[in-house]
Amino acid sequence: MTKEIILTGDRPTGKLHIGHYIGSLKNRVMLQNTGKYDSYIMIADTQALTDNARNPEKIRNSLIEVALDYLAVGLDPEKSTIFVQSQIPALFELTTDYMDLVTLSRLERNPTVKTEIKQKGFGDSLPVGFLTYPVAQAADITAFKATLVPVGDDQEPMLEQTREIVRSFNRTYNVDVLVEPKGYFPPKGQGRLPGLDGNAKMSKSLGNAIYLSDDAETVKKKVMSMYTDPNHIHVEDPGQVEGNTVFTYLDVFDPDKDTVAQLKEDYQKGGLGDVKIKRYLNKVLEAELAPIRERRQKYAENLDAVYDMLYQGSQKANQVADQTLQEVRDAIGFNYFKNRG
Ligand code: TRP
Repeated sequence: MTKEIILTGDRPTGKLHIGHYIGSLKNRVMLQNTGKYDSYIMIADTQALTDNARNPEKIRNSLIEVALDYLAVGLDPEKSTIFVQSQIPALFELTTDYMDLVTLSRLERNPTVKTEIKQKGFGDSLPVGFLTYPVAQAADITAFKATLVPVGDDQEPMLEQTREIVRSFNRTYNVDVLVEPKGYFPPKGQGRLPGLDGNAKMSKSLGNAIYLSDDAETVKKKVMSMYTDPNHIHVEDPGQVEGNTVFTYLDVFDPDKDTVAQLKEDYQKGGLGDVKIKRYLNKVLEAELAPIRERRQKYAENLDAVYDMLYQGSQKANQVADQTLQEVRDAIGFNYFKNRG
């Protein structure tokens, strides 16, 4: 039986946080464990370089942290192929070929890239590689003939771009080589975890994240500092639940929905203090994070084995990507030496 194929990945620009966990990692582990898919998980160091060319050390250091985060949440190299983007040369030849099928104005319309360009404040110094990374991402996805791409909502434009490239390639060269992927997104309302400060996005640059690698003491401190209802000054005051980050987190993390409903009611009535709900949230988070943290520590004691795992994964990924590249060269007709070596 041929299985459906999953490909996804992350840029290694720092450690992963619980926003990544909720937005994507948890889904990947669940999909992996169904046994129904061939899963490829890629650490996208070359994509990370598109806006960090002068800081490769950051990417190098983050690569191993991301690998540890993967293993910690339960991605299993026996079930998923975990590999490193820069070590797969076929991806870059595919990218070059695909670039000829995409217009500059199409790239300039990509809403996610547009937002990133604004946020990063490139001004007149926008690297070409950054603008074109959606094309490279199409190469990542199609090299493995992935049908399913579990990602956060912000990645939908990359999938649309990939599908356009697939159709264009197959039509142009009159073949059926590349495969259109579908996205796999977190359930509505759970895709994006707000930051500790109530900002809509949890991110390293905003300094409002809980990391999978944070120790228990750090998590507790962060939880106690969380944004709640700024008008809930005295314990007896009625408090607001909407937009209250503590309750947003409880909705996402606490499997005990009845207790959450009761806490909300009490909070809205007045008489339930912020410290109490924060202590409760901390307990709920610990139940999920403690086993992750323990696994992470165990793997961190043997980094050699982790690099070994990435090497093996990259070897396997290379075989698959090379096969697709061969088919792409055949389609274009760049196979002059086919029977010569
Ligand atoms: N763009 C993704 C991110 O920023 C990382 C990524 C690179 C990716 N290539 C991919 C995700 C292919 C899914 C499929 O996190």
